[in-house]
Amino acid sequence: MADLENLDWKNLGFSYIKTDFRFIATYKNGSWSQGGLVSENVLQLSEGSPVLHYGQACFEGLKAYRSQEGKALLFRPLENAKRLQTSCERLLMPKVSEELFLRACAEVVKANQKWLAPYKSGASLYLRPFVIGVGDNLGVKPASEYLFIVFCAPVGAYFKGGIEKGGARFITTAFDRAAPKGTGGVKVGGNYAASLLAHKMATEQGYDDCIYLDPTTHTKIEEVGAANFFGITHDSAFITPHSPSILPSITRKSLMVLAKEHLKLKVEEREILVDELGAFKEAGACGTAAIITPIKEIAHNNKSYSFEAPGNITKQLYDLLLSIQQGEQEAPKDWIFEVG
Ligand code: PLP
Ligand code: COI
Repeated sequence: MADLENLDWKNLGFSYIKTDFRFIATYKNGSWSQGGLVSENVLQLSEGSPVLHYGQACFEGLKAYRSQEGKALLFRPLENAKRLQTSCERLLMPKVSEELFLRACAEVVKANQKWLAPYKSGASLYLRPFVIGVGDNLGVKPASEYLFIVFCAPVGAYFKGGIEKGGARFITTAFDRAAPKGTGGVKVGGNYAASLLAHKMATEQGYDDCIYLDPTTHTKIEEVGAANFFGITHDSAFITPHSPSILPSITRKSLMVLAKEHLKLKVEEREILVDELGAFKEAGACGTAAIITPIKEIAHNNKSYSFEAPGNITKQLYDLLLSIQQGEQEAPKDWIFEVG
């Protein structure tokens, strides 16, 4: 186990750190068990488990921040619960109820309080709920048994080029992460397995990650492998791609509200051509892990587009989002779930 006393909260990256407790519920004979906390982090599965061969797996990611008063605050967990249900439906897995999801997350945060980063340390407690199909099986068919697990780990920045580090550099990839009517819009394991090679190629060329283009025409921006994309035009409009094959990011959905209602910006969700990138003054990658990572450069077909990193609006959105997540600023209704 990592040594909690010596954790460097300000410089944590995004890696697995074994914390004390995780929550496990099992699905057998048509229903989920009550579930509960365990300390063991190693699973024992049948070698025939559909998750191992056919990728019957989906997951979520959400964070708990510590408020100034020391409370643990989860950001929009109900949205994660709903998205996990959509992912489960797509893979013919039994849905986890909102009640079970929220109870599991709350129990994990409470039981691992000592791993919850100090207020304003730049770190947070990342929760990773997931559902996998297990049990003896050989043919391509849904599992008869499932596990729903939530574990957590203290994390810092996902991308090295964070808000105070001058921004990230991305390159477009010729690979697709999702097919037009495939699973891009849900958070299933296979999407991420398919993204590993493109990610490796981008990082080997010195970029932080790749940007996927639309799988049909390869002319429009889709998203980064682990975050959605947004751009800010020279006349201060917040523009983000409309596509059925990107993951509907909860961070992005929140930023659209904040951009419109707090910063009074014009907000548009529409197709974005790569050729249009020159029209953006600022660009960013947004997601639970990425928070808001300003993009300083996007390379595409021997061309390079550069952006202010962080630009003024990106910085304002970042500050607003973080102050809501840390309980400093009043949040829109139901955005903050206090674990008490
Ligand atoms: N896009 C992909 C592919 C992701 O994996 C994530 C992370 O969850 C996001 C976008 C951002 O989504 P969210 O803001 O809900 O974390
Ligand atoms: C998240 O932001 O929660 C993600 O799941 C992104 C990545 C770590 C897969």
